Amino acid sequence: MTDADIEMVVAMIRPDKLGAVKQALAEAGAPSLTVTQVSGRGSQAAKKGQWRGEEYVVDLLQKVKVECVVADTPTDDVVEAIREAAHTGEKGDGKIFVLPVSDAIQVRTGERGPDAV
Ligand SMILES: Nc1ncnc2c1ncn2[C@@H]1O[C@H](COP(=O)(O)OP(=O)(O)OP(=O)(O)O)[C@@H](O)[C@H]1O
Ligand SMILES: [Mg+2]
Repeated sequence: MTDADIEMVVAMIRPDKLGAVKQALAEAGAPSLTVTQVSGRGSQAAKKGQWRGEEYVVDLLQKVKVECVVADTPTDDVVEAIREAAHTGEKGDGKIFVLPVSDAIQVRTGERGPDAV
């Protein structure tokens, strides 16, 4: 195991930005990722609407969560690649979080640490 840090970049993005984000990650040298459909909310208040006389509240919006564990690719490059690709400038563009990862194990080879990432 080398002394390189392992980190996980977790990004909640607009679903229609997934293609651009995937491409940007590949170009940044970090093609591996996990994608999950999620719903969530940020800092804006819930929106009220009417449908057939019934009032409904939209407080959770569909987003896509992209998880990307990186070791030898500088985390800031990955964060910036996602941010650029996911950006529109409008509210709801998403959030990116960076978390420490204590270890990684490649199932096929048994390799551990940054080399397993
Ligand atoms: N603090 C948070 N904790 C967990 N998830 C968050 C947090 N902030 C945002 N998210 C997730 O990111 C998604 C997009 O958030 P969003 O971009 O609307 O954040 P925001 O803070 O409201 O910024 P903006 O004002 O640009 O809309 C949310 O739907 C939610 O899934
Ligand atoms: Mg918001």
